[in-house]
Amino acid sequence: MANIIDGKAVSAQVKEDIRVETEKLKAQGIEIGLAVVIVGNDPASQVYVRNKEKACETVGFNSYKYALPEETTEQELLALVDKLNNDDKVDGILVQLPLPKHLDDKIIINNIRPDKDVDAFHPVNVGKIMIGDYSFLPCTPAGVMELIKSTGTEIAGKECVVIGRSNIVGKPQAMLLLHQSGTVTICHSKTKDLKAVTSRADILVAAVGRAKMITADYVKQGAVVIDVGMNRDENGKLCGDVDFESVKDKASYITPVPGGVGPMTIAMLMKNTLTAGKDHHGVK
Ligand code: GUN
Repeated sequence: MANIIDGKAVSAQVKEDIRVETEKLKAQGIEIGLAVVIVGNDPASQVYVRNKEKACETVGFNSYKYALPEETTEQELLALVDKLNNDDKVDGILVQLPLPKHLDDKIIINNIRPDKDVDAFHPVNVGKIMIGDYSFLPCTPAGVMELIKSTGTEIAGKECVVIGRSNIVGKPQAMLLLHQSGTVTICHSKTKDLKAVTSRADILVAAVGRAKMITADYVKQGAVVIDVGMNRDENGKLCGDVDFESVKDKASYITPVPGGVGPMTIAMLMKNTLTAGKDHHGVK
């Protein structure tokens, strides 16, 4: 039976460290603020946004929520982004995705000031990730790196396989593993013999979006398996991309869903917001 990586515990520790630092900044009169913008009524997005507000409260940040109606126009949303870009109380801006269909994610993200882009979605920040010169790490991949670190696993020289090539997870994940000198392969829907590739992985990160797709026959004995998936199984129960029951006896470490990567994403968002706030106030 693998060791189960406790994402809630690792995330609680990251948030506690941030809380302590935020308290010290407050004593110097410095407050940190995160603006969260949500457009429309997507129920999953509403839960995510509520969790982000709760996390701000936990670490001692000010949170500013802007809930806009579904029919908000591009011009109206850009006007809000512009206002937040110029608001000194706001250190980080997060526009919850997906946006309603009539709004173009790209146009909105490109208009967030890069030094307030705590998601690290702006092309300037994406470019910085590519060259390893970053202030903000993309939240989910950064959370995955913290979880791997918590196992004490050395990444340098290891076979690292990332399944999924999204801009939010797969691609930046591969870069972060590469920066730590892993030998990285990215797999996707056109990969010829997926099992043959994933079976080589000492560190396997699954970000496919297909419930329980990764069974034991995709996994090398003793691998570290990180599951970024967030799906519903045939009974409507939350589950990952990894078939936990079948893989848990083969992996050395495995993340559960829920309680693995999920809590880390928000903790890393808090970390980016703190970084932005310190930068804005000239704190090292
Ligand atoms: N929707 C799902 N995940 C995310 C995220 O990490 N950031 C934003 N802005 N929207 C999301």
